[in-house]
Amino acid sequence: MSIFTKRDIKTINEAFLHELSDIYSAEKQLTVALPKMRKATASSALAEGFEVHLQETFGQLERLDQVAKICGFELKDVKCKAMQGLVKEGDEIIAEIEFGAVRDAMLIAAAQKVEHYEIASYGTLVEMAKKLGYPDAAIMLAVTLDEEKSTDEKLNELALTEVNDAAMGVSPVAASFVTEGSTSQHIVN
Ligand SMILES: [Fe+2]
Ligand SMILES: [Fe+2]
Repeated sequence: MSIFTKRDIKTINEAFLHELSDIYSAEKQLTVALPKMRKATASSALAEGFEVHLQETFGQLERLDQVAKICGFELKDVKCKAMQGLVKEGDEIIAEIEFGAVRDAMLIAAAQKVEHYEIASYGTLVEMAKKLGYPDAAIMLAVTLDEEKSTDEKLNELALTEVNDAAMGVSPVAASFVTEGSTSQHIVN
C-alpha cells in the first residue's frame, strides 16, 4: 500500500485501480526476491519451489497487465510498502542466519507471510472486480488467487516433510514445526 491523498481515490473504481497497481508492484518486487531466496536455501526441494513460483509470478504480472487492459486502466506507478517490508525481512534472514536448515525454516516462514499478503490482496481484488462488473477480470484474478493458495500449501508441506525436521536436528531451540491441521508454522522452545 502506498501513501496517497484523499483526492487520489474517490470511487470504488479508483480504489480497485489502486489495489491492482499495488499488487503489481508487490509481484515485481518478488521477481527480484525469489531468485535470492532460491540461492539462499540448502534444500533442493525448497529451491525448486521458489523457482516454480518465480515462473508463476512472471505469469501473474502478465495476467495483471491483461486485467488492466480489460478494465481500461493504466496501472499507476506505486510502490507496495508492505511487500518492501516483507522482502526486507527475507534479506535479513539471508544476511543474519547461517546457510542450513534453520535458515530454511525461516525462509519458509517469510515466504508464507508473502503468500498470505497476496492471498488477502487477490481475495479483495476478485470481489471488487465482480462488484464493479468486470467478470472476466475476476476470473483471471481468481486463477492467481488459487496459485498463491497452492504455493502456501506447498510451503507448508515442505516445512512438514523435510525442512523443519532438519532444523530440529540442528538446533532444537530455534526449531519450528507445523501442527496438524494448521496452515502456519509455530516456533517452539
Ligand atoms: Fe504472486
Ligand atoms: Fe505468491
